[in-house]
Amino acid sequence: MMKSLRIRSFEEYKEKYALSVENPETFWGEIAENFTWKEKWDQVLDWNFDEPKINWFEGAKLNITENVLDRHLEKRGNKLALIWEPNDPKQRFIRYTYRELHELVCQFANVLKKKGVVKGDRVCIYLPMIPELTIAMLACARIGAVHSVIFAGFSANAIADRVNDAQAKLVITADGLNRGAKQIPLKRVVDEALESCPSVKEVIVYDSLAWMPNMVANRDSWWHELVDNESKVCEAEVMDAEDMLFILYTSGSTGNPKGVVHTCGGYMVYTAYTFQNVYQCDESDVYWSSADIGWITGHSYTVYGPLLTGATVLMFEGVPTFPDPGRFWQVIDKHSVNQFLTAPTALRSLMAHGEDHVLSYSLDSLKLLGTVGEPINDEAWKWYHLHVGKEKCAIVDNWWQTETGGIMISGLGNISPMKPTYAGFPLPGVQPVLLNQEGEEIQEADVEGYLCMKFPWPGMLRTTYGDHERCKATYFSQYKGYYFSGDGAKRDKNGMYRIIGRIDDVINVSGHRFGTAEIENAINTNSKVIESAVVGFPHPVKGQSIYAFVVCEKLPEDPIQARGAIVESVVSQIGKIALPEKIQFVTGLPKTRSGKIMRRILRKIAEGDISNLGDTSTLLDPLIVDEIVESAL
Ligand code: WTA
Repeated sequence: MMKSLRIRSFEEYKEKYALSVENPETFWGEIAENFTWKEKWDQVLDWNFDEPKINWFEGAKLNITENVLDRHLEKRGNKLALIWEPNDPKQRFIRYTYRELHELVCQFANVLKKKGVVKGDRVCIYLPMIPELTIAMLACARIGAVHSVIFAGFSANAIADRVNDAQAKLVITADGLNRGAKQIPLKRVVDEALESCPSVKEVIVYDSLAWMPNMVANRDSWWHELVDNESKVCEAEVMDAEDMLFILYTSGSTGNPKGVVHTCGGYMVYTAYTFQNVYQCDESDVYWSSADIGWITGHSYTVYGPLLTGATVLMFEGVPTFPDPGRFWQVIDKHSVNQFLTAPTALRSLMAHGEDHVLSYSLDSLKLLGTVGEPINDEAWKWYHLHVGKEKCAIVDNWWQTETGGIMISGLGNISPMKPTYAGFPLPGVQPVLLNQEGEEIQEADVEGYLCMKFPWPGMLRTTYGDHERCKATYFSQYKGYYFSGDGAKRDKNGMYRIIGRIDDVINVSGHRFGTAEIENAINTNSKVIESAVVGFPHPVKGQSIYAFVVCEKLPEDPIQARGAIVESVVSQIGKIALPEKIQFVTGLPKTRSGKIMRRILRKIAEGDISNLGDTSTLLDPLIVDEIVESAL
């Protein structure tokens, strides 16, 4: 473990925090000394939030995989890097040591090279939660290719959008995947997507389920055939600290998902440092995050952060409720997991199945619990603490975003004070502020404001792929001189932060982000639809759910069938994960005279709170509100 990086007490945290604010360059420079660089930096930081320009460790050269793998071989060559637990508990699990993982990564890196992939090329990865996903990502990084992982629940259209935006040259996929009792034919989805992706010349298919999918001649090849006889040695490409490491698409309040870009040096330093301090793993510990690698949590805290620090990571293919709602706890006992990270949604869905499923497991090995992705409610927090942690494990609530690259606000292991529903204190190097409507910093305690950052940190996004202006407009233009997170938060008198949730048009369903515009665009592809407006509303398990108000040429005679058609549009444009829970047909939407949809009113209606809809008299058509209220679902 990177012992020298580890903060051991709350006092030490406070000292480190003060240092990181007084002299960020000394602070991060010293942390960066703990890694393997081929050449050191000329300057730790060069930045402004106006362009924005964010350069960390400029002039330094490295390859992140030498830090993830090679560096550990001497001391940890025979230590387990990865434990893979399959969807089906009766199937055998797989374990790889650091040495084995190193060989597998190098071998697949050589395959990619033979396929003509070179530094800077974009490779799209659409795989199940199997070790090959980690291997494929690291193989890209080994040769300097930029990976773009797409969660294996997105539709063909969503894949095509992402592949085309990144102009990916090669796609890595599998025949299919297991998720609980369901199976999904990934290769078929990729084939459909690639009909409209001219940049893709090659597809590598991992044989996961022996399904024998259709293989396209001169384009598709089998993973196992390619790696056969390939060398297990592959020299690491020399990368600049600010070269791209990966793109990950995420939803924002406007337009289609954007490709958040992370770079090699800063992301490495930040994910390792935050992992080490938030999870506080000891050398023999087994750490498990249940998040899918298709999202940022999987990138930073199943792949890079833990492996950079030499931890043993568990990776799970399945879902919490298969074959029964005790599966998480069974896996924890089976592999003696010490640190466990999951999302509030998973906890709430398991709570609904009752305590018996958790009480039949000992969970003795657990030392620390984590939660991430959405605000955790008091009830779920207490259930987690009592039934999973048996009141002996601290809970760290990790607030961060795809754009921040790593955890920003959180408890550190069991050394920080804990307060249910509060994420806690900022990590060293993180300088949050709460701004009011006017953009002034709120100093008082317990006042809600917009959560922003006033200083860069090494893990932050550098740009949005192919469109730097969009990055600037989305994150750096709302309040000049600040990074704008899109979240509302408040701070108590001790300085602990509580995240309230998104204040923009982003809906967080089961910890997954969707933009209202993105879902509306999907609904509007239906030829009968004239326009639509989508809002989030509170859901007891998912946190939020999607409510769609839809205007058709005329009110549908058969609403059930019309709803089915809309569902179909969303499934085909985005995927089942973005399905609206409620679809209400209306004859018009509440709009201002300038044509802006009044989402605030729709949100209230969706929440069932029509007592105070505010002044509707200035609307273009005030009567429409009454109609919508009357037919609300
Ligand atoms: C929300 C996931 C409350 C927040 C790591 C943020 C949270 C968005 C928390 C980012 C938390 C994430 N408490 N809300 N601990 N963690 N969020 O990009 O609204 O998938 O802006 O990154 O999730 O989601 P993303």
